[in-house]
Amino acid sequence: MYSEKVMEHFEHPRNVGEIPDASGTGTVGNAKCGDIMKMDIKVENDVITDVKFKTFGCCAAIATSSDEALQLTNKAVAEALDGLPPVKMHCSLLAEQAIHAAVEDYQKKHPKE
Ligand code: FES
Repeated sequence: MYSEKVMEHFEHPRNVGEIPDASGTGTVGNAKCGDIMKMDIKVENDVITDVKFKTFGCCAAIATSSDEALQLTNKAVAEALDGLPPVKMHCSLLAEQAIHAAVEDYQKKHPKE
C-alpha cells in the first residue's frame, strides 16, 4: 500500500520534536480523519533554518512531515515520497497546512515594515 520511501520515513522520521524558541508555530487538524499536527519553524534572516513536527497522524502524515517539510504543496510532498495511496492523500495536507500556518505565525510576529 505504501512506497518504500514512505515506510522508511515512517520508521525513521526526520525533524520530529519541538523547537523551544520557535520563530513560528502552526497547529492544524485534518477534518477528514480528525488527526492533528504541530509544526515549529526557526527563521534566521528570513530563511527557515530548522523545522520540527509532532503529530497524532498516521504513517502517511509522519512521512509527509519528515520528508521535504518545506515543499509547500501536498502533491509535491507526496511525489517526493514516490506517491501515496489515493485514500491517504488528505494526510499530506496536514504537512502543507502546518508549514503554512507556522510561516503565517512567524509573519504575524515579525511584520515587515
Ligand atoms: Fe489522519 Fe492519515 S489518517 S493523518
